[in-house]
Amino acid sequence: MTNSALAGTRCVVTGAAGFIGSHLADRLLGAGATVVGIDCFTDYYDPAVKHANLSALRGRPGFDLVNCDLATDDLQNLLEGAEFVFHEAGQPGVRGSWGTSFPGYVRNNVSATQRLLEAARGVGGLRRIINASSSSVYGDAETLPTGEDVLPLPVSPYGVTKLAAEHLCRVYARVFEIPVVSLRYFTVYGPRQRPDMAFMRFCRAILAGDEITINGDGLQTRDFTYVDDIVTANLAAATAPAEQVVGKTYNLGGGARIAVNDVLGLLFDVAGRRTRVRYVDAQPGDALHTAADTDRAREYLSFRPTVGLEAGLQQQWQWAQTMRP
Ligand code: UGA
Repeated sequence: MTNSALAGTRCVVTGAAGFIGSHLADRLLGAGATVVGIDCFTDYYDPAVKHANLSALRGRPGFDLVNCDLATDDLQNLLEGAEFVFHEAGQPGVRGSWGTSFPGYVRNNVSATQRLLEAARGVGGLRRIINASSSSVYGDAETLPTGEDVLPLPVSPYGVTKLAAEHLCRVYARVFEIPVVSLRYFTVYGPRQRPDMAFMRFCRAILAGDEITINGDGLQTRDFTYVDDIVTANLAAATAPAEQVVGKTYNLGGGARIAVNDVLGLLFDVAGRRTRVRYVDAQPGDALHTAADTDRAREYLSFRPTVGLEAGLQQQWQWAQTMRP
């Protein structure tokens, strides 16, 4: 039902060359939408990885790629005729957001989002903007699993910028009736996961026989979420009745919170081999535990995670092996 509602529509995906954006563009094309993918190929990680992410999209009927920097380029023309905008672009990386890197987070997470929303004001026929937010807005939440109404208190500058972007979405929805929905993703994984994220680092180390580094004691937990479930929720947020979801925020978590040590054990089992593990100091900005209360997403977006951790890790491990240099 969700897919057919998008057939023939014109969608824009920002960050289309990234991990989640490329999967989303893929699914939208499969649903019969036309997709304008926007990316500016920042060098936070090797742009060659982003070009590889795009290989499944390039040349497909209905897909166009536009190299555009949301923080500086003209967005009005780009959004012309767009019905759905999926805003996945941003500056990721929780623990690296301190010090001199912070202006890049402000630029790519706050200013870029504000410019996108401002441009959206001039787009007649815009039906929905889906804003990719993050579990990092919660910081070390007192309540686990954490509901959307818990006061967000980020513990990293990255989380502060993602929260600021969410507030901008809320304000533009309220004041200018821009039809925005924010989705708080909880540590997403699966094929094409960003190379700086834990599972990809672990996979690479196992493949190379290198040492794995665990930040802190490895007892920190995450509510890891498989990428396909995130994509499905995006489509649901785009097509759900406006009066139910516009101006709202939803948690998207996989539903199986697990410690980093334990998930590494699971990955060793999936891979059928192990490698050395070294424990280093806990990193500033790293939340101790995350867990999503997804009752609201379940009710309004019919959100039901379908891929369990072991099956998801198998998918990621299989894909990681194809990435071996
Ligand atoms: C991830 C994404 O990187 C963020 O962009 C996103 O906003 C965030 O999820 C979110 O849910 O909001 P994070 O939870 O830190 O952030 O995900 P990973 O980088 O996969 O790290 C998970 C845990 O493994 C962290 O505690 C991290 O310190 C740990 N880790 C990571 C290690 O112990 N060793 C590593 O080599 C890498």
